[in-house]
Amino acid sequence: MKEMNGASDAAYRAFLEAYPGYSSTSRLDELRARDYERLDRLGQVYLDYTGGGLYSLGQIRRHHELLREGVYGNPHSDNPTSQASERLVADARQAVLSFFNADPDEYGVIFTPNASGALKLVGESYPFQPGGRFLLTYDNHNSVNGIREFARHNGAGVRYLPVLTPELRVDGGAVSEALRDRGSDAPHLFAYPAQSNFSGVQHPMAWVSWAHEHGWHVILDSAAFAPTNRLDLAAVHPDFVPLSFYKMFGYPTGVGALVFRHEALRVLRRPWFAGGTITVASVQGEGWHHLAPGHAGFEDGTVDYLGLPAVTIGLEHLAAIGIDVIHERVMALTGWLVTQLTSLAHSDGSPLARVFGPTDLTRRGGTIAFYLGAPDGRPYDVRTVEALASRAGISLRTGCFCNPGDGEVAHGLTRDDMAKCFVGTCTPVSFEYCAETIRASTGKAPNTMRVSLGLASNFADAYALVRFAGSFRDAPSDLSPDARPGHIVHQ
Ligand SMILES: Cc1ncc(COP(=O)(O)O)c(C=O)c1O
Repeated sequence: MKEMNGASDAAYRAFLEAYPGYSSTSRLDELRARDYERLDRLGQVYLDYTGGGLYSLGQIRRHHELLREGVYGNPHSDNPTSQASERLVADARQAVLSFFNADPDEYGVIFTPNASGALKLVGESYPFQPGGRFLLTYDNHNSVNGIREFARHNGAGVRYLPVLTPELRVDGGAVSEALRDRGSDAPHLFAYPAQSNFSGVQHPMAWVSWAHEHGWHVILDSAAFAPTNRLDLAAVHPDFVPLSFYKMFGYPTGVGALVFRHEALRVLRRPWFAGGTITVASVQGEGWHHLAPGHAGFEDGTVDYLGLPAVTIGLEHLAAIGIDVIHERVMALTGWLVTQLTSLAHSDGSPLARVFGPTDLTRRGGTIAFYLGAPDGRPYDVRTVEALASRAGISLRTGCFCNPGDGEVAHGLTRDDMAKCFVGTCTPVSFEYCAETIRASTGKAPNTMRVSLGLASNFADAYALVRFAGSFRDAPSDLSPDARPGHIVHQ
């Protein structure tokens, strides 16, 4: 049995017994030792893969070598350096389609700066109109929620499907009923995350075909899902799939994609044009321009032609490991973490950690939202806990993770509670101000912590978190990072 960086051997043995599939992922231990060795060398316990993935040394080396050995010019020309870049861009587009098993006759790829950029392309171009509707689940990321502004501006209705406690899932019957409820023949758009970036809940892929049966277009937000789960676009056929590549393999940042069905793209109407998106425009004929067909009409200006080969390299990196291997490992660690966190208790038996969302591995991914609470039932201040975690070298995330719907339901916040942040305030208020206002007037503390696992995660990372959480045992609720109770020892 391998030494697990301070994790107890007995705990590791028990983990392997409970999750025997983990052993089949041992190639990731070798990879971590070789290509992610900086984590252990720098004493970093990285638990924020839903925030951003980590790159391997091999990816960086291959990209560096490609840049060192080639001469690349701006694409869109016939000269040799431009053609060399064109080839890299075409390879990246092909690599995205292959990775997601998407038939090029059905799907295409638009490169964007990130998943938000992909979502904005759909939002600003979708033909929302009176009689049409934008339907979305509560647990969408704000970059999906923001599409409601385009819908409202153009007179379409907006309807949310709530998530329900305790698992923060959406009732399938409510989805079915909402999809049947089409007011008119105007275009209808449904958006949901394949995996919530708050709770880790994975919604049924079957909703895509349900929606199609009733004439809806579907955005399947896969930004949080794709890094550790197989998305097979030959099996499920969403119209629009936004992605951020840094979440999948850490590098490059600043490149995402909108994977689209050709049929659905034809429905979109771009509100402007830019260099690269038209075949011809006229200055004298002010209203005259021809949008370029397919992806070209949606890629404003010059694509990141030097960054895109790193996308090909990153996808090859994931494919070489095997997305199912990554999934197996992440789910084993998630299962262990959820079980451990939910069984932590103070000496009076009161729970130390509360997990929001599913507490087993059914239809969930490797993102866990939770808080730590004192024996008196009050949550510890998350900023203090985060500061203590940082001191222990643990990267976790606090806040609402741009997912207000899951946060509101998880913390039992009502519309009236939320109004305190919006109604009667004349300047934009910060998240902290809003959280404090709600806490002061309702006693609810709408702060959450989130840990998320990824391809370089190992048992020692999970163990470090549980040990950290366990060190709050019997600590009073009024923690302060400077005057810490003696029994909380973090190095
Ligand atoms: C589910 C989901 N959608 C969209 C986004 C937006 O991604 P980006 O910030 O890369 O645009 C995120 C980011 O965390 C996410 O988790």
